[in-house]
Amino acid sequence: MITRRLFLASSACITLLPRLSLASSSTRLTASEVEAQILPDEYPASKLWGYNNSTPGPILRTKQNETISIQFENELNAPSSIHWHGIRIDNAMDGVPDLTQAVVEPNDYFDYDFKTPDAGTYWYHAHNRSQEQVARGLYGALIVEELNPPNVDYDEVVLLDDWQIKETGELNEDFDNLHEQSMAGALGNFARAFIRDDLVLKQNDRIRLRLINVATDRVFSIELTSVQGKIVALDGMPLEKPVDLQSLTLAPAQRADLIVDVLDTLENAVLINFVNSDGSFELGSIPIEGVNDSPFQQAITALPLNELAEPNLDNAIDIPFTLSGGMGMAMMMGDSIWTINGKGGLDDIPLHSFNRGETGLIRIVNDTGFSHGIHLHGHHFREVKDGNALGPLRDTILLDAEEERMIACVFDNPGKWLMHCHMLGHQASGMKTWIEVA
Ligand code: C2O
Ligand code: CU
Repeated sequence: MITRRLFLASSACITLLPRLSLASSSTRLTASEVEAQILPDEYPASKLWGYNNSTPGPILRTKQNETISIQFENELNAPSSIHWHGIRIDNAMDGVPDLTQAVVEPNDYFDYDFKTPDAGTYWYHAHNRSQEQVARGLYGALIVEELNPPNVDYDEVVLLDDWQIKETGELNEDFDNLHEQSMAGALGNFARAFIRDDLVLKQNDRIRLRLINVATDRVFSIELTSVQGKIVALDGMPLEKPVDLQSLTLAPAQRADLIVDVLDTLENAVLINFVNSDGSFELGSIPIEGVNDSPFQQAITALPLNELAEPNLDNAIDIPFTLSGGMGMAMMMGDSIWTINGKGGLDDIPLHSFNRGETGLIRIVNDTGFSHGIHLHGHHFREVKDGNALGPLRDTILLDAEEERMIACVFDNPGKWLMHCHMLGHQASGMKTWIEVA
C-alpha cells in the first residue's frame, strides 16, 4: 500500500486539462475507459474511466443564459448518466436514473439540452453507481462565465480528488465496501489537484481560481501559500460580500471561487495544501517567475449576483430531516446503513411535495457520529442562522457529527429533485431522498 508520504503530489504530475468551448454548436461527451497518469510520473499510469479520453473530462465553458446541447455517448460496459451539479436545470436534464431519466445503456446515447441561468463554477459527473463511477474518474468542470467577467490575469480551474490506489497505478475496486460506507466513506490514500500544467504566474498577478472538490467522500481543508485575496463565490453563487481568504473547507461537490493576488515572496510557487490533523500535504503547485509591473490597483470586489428568489421565512413549511445510521447500525436498518427520517434509499413518495414558489425550512439533524455533505438538486438554499440571519447561497452543506443546521430554500423549479449525502458511499448505502415541486 502506498504510504502517507505519497500525499505529496509532485508538480511533475500536474496534468493539462483539456478544454471545450460550448459557445456555438453542439458538443459530444463520450464516456469510455481511459489511461491517466494519476500518480507521480515515476509510477505507472492508471486504467480509469473518463470523458473524451480524459479524466478529468474536458472543462466545459459557456456563458450565462446560453442553451447548451451535449450528446452523451456511453462507450463503457456499464450503464451511466450525467448530472450537471449545481445548475438550476430543467428537471428532465438532471441526469438522475430512475427519477429523471432511464440509465443510458452501453452503446446508447442521451441528448442533454439545457439553459445555464446562473454564472458560476459548476461540475458534471456520472450519477449511476456514482460511488464507483466518480471514483473511476467520470467528472469534469462546467464553467458558466459572467456576461461581464471580473478583470483578472488568469481564470483557472482546480479540481481536488483522492483515490484508493496502489503503487502499480491500479485502483482498489472494492467500491461497495460496507465497512467503509458505514464510516467516513471511501477515503483515498493518494490525493492531488489537477491544474493546467503550462500555467506560470508572476508576482502581482491577479488570478481567479475555481476550486472543485470532486472526491467521492473526502472533505478537503485547503490553504494556499504566496497569495492574498478573497473568496468571491461558493457553490457557484457569488457572495454579496467577498470574505478574506484564510483557510477553506470543501465537502465533496462543494466549490469555491477565489480571486487572489500573487504576493512578493521568496517562494517560487503558489502551493495548494491540504491541511489535516496529520499535517499539511501539497496537492499541487503553480510556479511563480518574475514580476508583473502593472499590478491591479482596484480592490477585489463582489461578482455580479445571480438572480434567485429569496426565502420567505414567515411563510415557510417546516421539514424535519434527521440523519441516522452508520457504524454499528447496519443490522438495524434493513438494506440501508444510513437513513433520512428513518428511511433508507428512494421511496415512491417524495419526502415532501411543494407548490412552486413555496419556501421550505429544512431542519437537518445529524444524529450520527460522522460528517455529511447534504446536496439538493436543481436549487440553491441558504442556511438560517441564529436570529434568522441568512447565510450564502449553497447547493451542498457540510454537517459535522451530531450537528444541527437549518436551511431555507425557495422550491421554484418544477420536477423531482434528489436530495442526498454527497459522500457517495453514504448515498449508495441509503442516505438519499427526493422532493417534488409541482
Ligand atoms: Cu453531484 Cu446527486 O449529485
Ligand atoms: Cu454522509
